[in-house]
Amino acid sequence: MEIRINSLGARGDGIAESGEGTVYVPDALPGELVRVVKTLRRGDGQRAVVRDVVEASSERISPACGHFGTCGGCAAQHMGAGLYAAWKRDLVRNSLARAGVDAEVLTTVSVLPSTRRRVRLGFRQIRDSVIVGFREAGSDRIVDLAECPVATPRVVGVLSALRRFLPRFTNHGEVAVTETDNGLDVVVFAKGEPDLDLRMDAPAFCDEAGICRLSWSDGDSLPEPILVAGEPVVRFGDVAVSMPLDSFLQPTAPGEAALRDFVIDAVAESTAVADLYAGCGAFSLPVAAAGKTVHAVEAVAAQCAAVQAAGDHWGVTVETRDLVRQPLRPSELIRFDAIVLDPPRAGAGPQVEQLAAAGVPLVVYVSCNPATFARDARVLADAEYAIGPVQPFDQFLWSHHIELAAVFRVRQS
Ligand SMILES: C[S@@+](CC[C@H](N)C(=O)[O-])C[C@H]1O[C@@H](n2cnc3c(N)ncnc32)[C@H](O)[C@@H]1O
Repeated sequence: MEIRINSLGARGDGIAESGEGTVYVPDALPGELVRVVKTLRRGDGQRAVVRDVVEASSERISPACGHFGTCGGCAAQHMGAGLYAAWKRDLVRNSLARAGVDAEVLTTVSVLPSTRRRVRLGFRQIRDSVIVGFREAGSDRIVDLAECPVATPRVVGVLSALRRFLPRFTNHGEVAVTETDNGLDVVVFAKGEPDLDLRMDAPAFCDEAGICRLSWSDGDSLPEPILVAGEPVVRFGDVAVSMPLDSFLQPTAPGEAALRDFVIDAVAESTAVADLYAGCGAFSLPVAAAGKTVHAVEAVAAQCAAVQAAGDHWGVTVETRDLVRQPLRPSELIRFDAIVLDPPRAGAGPQVEQLAAAGVPLVVYVSCNPATFARDARVLADAEYAIGPVQPFDQFLWSHHIELAAVFRVRQS
């Protein structure tokens, strides 16, 4: 059937209203007339795939990657820069509007291609060869990546070495690759035990592939290091941190730098800062190096130890604590004049309730989920906080993900 696309959805699909209801069409743009074939039902509507673009939008561009359209890693390489930036900004605007939060949303700050420093890919042996890559959208099938314009050259470069190495020990699983300052940190997730052959061959493989730490996990237990040629180290600003196994790291170095600058700017006038959901100290450590008193709170003990080791010099204090079960209470929050928080996708509901009650003068909220950010922003707005402009940061280039940051200040009564 032929349909006219009306708008873009939250996942980058073109959306059309037809006589049969809503139709979701990946790779189609607003204004386009497309010939489609219907596939599966989707919630309230119907999915369809493009057979022909009968009338193309002037915003349509050639995708940067030969795998676009098949690989589930990217959803928006067919959008021109203007449409793409507006779509990302609208993801934030729409979430705020749904939660009834009135805030200016600034132009999206986007990272360049070839900057994603951490990926988690599937791999599977098929006859004599191994395929390694992201999964197809909505499927378990792995796309064998011949290229990836999103990931750093070193991350892409290790894939051919992995294709040769992995099938000698396992025939399917997942592999997480993180680029650090002194090499690649690689974790293989596969069933079974690493055997003696693997341990014997690991040094030569890691040397050839530029891997500083190779670890193995059966999926149920924590990864076990097989070979550590050198501790993986990442610099947050000027502060070097030894990264624990399986720890959180912002997906791109430029994105992390942009978020860090935002946070440092926001707390410029503050003296005592609590960094909640601190990870390995991407904000705590540079804020401490900028002369602030910093208390970092994080649930993962190994990450807390990494912050402690790197932050001792600046007197950073660290607390291992689950902020969902045990949020900081007003009696604990009162000693800070700024709170930085950067929760996972679920947001920071219980902690935000406590912040609202405590009335800390300044809250800097960094988020990877506009929906939970908007929900939490609403709680702060209802508690007499004024929200500053919301800055979208696009670190997951060409995907439907968007991060953002905003500053909340207590209104003067
Ligand atoms: C989005 S990351 C942010 C880390 C850090 N701000 C950064 O930029 O690298 C969220 C962090 O929250 C931690 N976390 C998740 N759930 C938590 C909880 N219930 N309590 C405390 N920390 C938690 C995770 O371990 C992770 O390090």
